[in-house]
Formats: sequence, C-alpha cells, structure tokens
Amino acid sequence: MKPRNKSTAVVASRAMPPDALDYFPTHPWATRALFEHVLHDKGRSLRAASVWEPACGQGHMGEVLKGRVGNVILSDCFDYGVFAEVADFLWPVTRYECDWIITNPPFRLAQEFIEKALTIARVGVAMLVRLQFVEGQGRFNDLFSKTPPTVIAQFAERVSLVPGCLDPKANLPTAYCWMVWGPDHGIGCATRFVWIPPCRDELTQPGDYVSILPGAEVPAPLFEGDAA
Ligand SMILES: C[S@@+](CC[C@H](N)C(=O)[O-])C[C@H]1O[C@@H](n2cnc3c(N)ncnc32)[C@H](O)[C@@H]1O
Repeated sequence: MKPRNKSTAVVASRAMPPDALDYFPTHPWATRALFEHVLHDKGRSLRAASVWEPACGQGHMGEVLKGRVGNVILSDCFDYGVFAEVADFLWPVTRYECDWIITNPPFRLAQEFIEKALTIARVGVAMLVRLQFVEGQGRFNDLFSKTPPTVIAQFAERVSLVPGCLDPKANLPTAYCWMVWGPDHGIGCATRFVWIPPCRDELTQPGDYVSILPGAEVPAPLFEGDAA
C-alpha cells in the first residue's frame, strides 16, 4: 500500500519534513491543558497508562506526555532525528497496543487518524484539532454521528501553531480545540462542550521554547507568513 501523503518520505535525511506532512508543532502548555483542564488528571491517574503519540514530529507534545504518563510510545512517518519510531500511522498493520492515543494529527488526515486511533486505543483518544474540524457533512455522517467525542474542549486563549517551528510570539486566526473520546464513548453518547480557561502563562515552563533536538537551532517557519 502507498503512503497516504504523496510526499511521505518514510525515512528522509532532511531535518524538516515536506509541507504535505502538515508539521505544526504543539505548544507544550496546550498539551498540559489537556491534563489539567480536560482530563482533570491533576492526581496523575494516567501514570499507569500507556500512551501512543503517533505523529510526534520533534516531540513537543511527546515530551509533555513523558512527564505525565508511565509509558509513552513516540512515532512519526518522517524521521525528525529524535528518538522515535518511523512509521506511517495509517498503514494497515498496527505496531503497538496502548491505553490512549494522544496527538495533534496532520490536519488533512485528522479524520483518518481518529478513526484508526479509535480502533486501537483501549481506553481513550485525545486529538488536538482545528476548530473548523467540528464542521462538515462528511465528518458528521462518517464520524461524529456514529462515534461522537465525549468532550470538545475549546481554548479560550488562542493556541497559535505555525508550520515547522514553535513560535511563542505567533498570533494567528486559526483556533484549536481538544476532542476526546473517553472510556464511555460510543453511539448515542452526548458530547460535552467545555472551555479551557486562559492558562498559557500558568502552564508554560522554562525551557519550553528551547529546541529539543540536541544542539539544533529552532528552525524558521517553512514558508514566511504561512500559518495553520
Ligand atoms: C500537526 S504535526 C504534529 C506534531 C506533534 N504531534 C506535535 O504536536 O508537536 C503533524 C505530524 O504528523 C506527521 N504525519 C503526517 N502524516 C503522517 C502519517 N501518515 N503517519 C504518521 N505521522 C504522520 C507529520 O510528520 C507531523 O510531524
């Protein structure tokens, strides 16, 4: 079977991926907000869980997960040079078993990622998606009407993601929300809408904006002015 992204170089030597892979690294505070304000995991109840981050990029979400979860598996279809498995999540053969799948999927493949994740995760799935993902007849017919999320959690404060790098100063129009399919998801489940209160300052930690690649500069955006 062919990789889903036309330009998917499963093992590539370049540091940055092709544009088609939708590489938009996630601010660490936005991942911490999932635990603090959506899963309410202040007591670290996920300590014993296994979580797969299957589109981990350079690991900005994965590093936060490692601080919260006992066993974290990191993979991505592109080789970013971090300690992660190189694997196309949408290939039919599933590489891992896990309790949760948590990621910020490539926008173009978000529905496919969610559908696949729901077949794998034993407990739940949490996906950071653009707010516009909520809308759409196709997604409604194929996904939300059959398997509605248990929670849609909207950030009150803008999460600004830019392609190819983590820019703490970015301020862009695209809004993001967390969608969670908890242990009780299924046909007929009522979706709860919650707000994530402003929490960027509180949840940002020293070192969040230092590149996690050893010795690497934080890369510039792939395209000047391009944004999610
Ligand atoms: C929006 S970025 C998210 C990066 C990371 N999860 C984060 O939050 O910082 C999407 C990622 O999906 C990866 N990706 C795209 N298609 C994929 C596929 N079929 N299987 C696995 N990873 C894929 C890209 O290489 C990119 O790293």
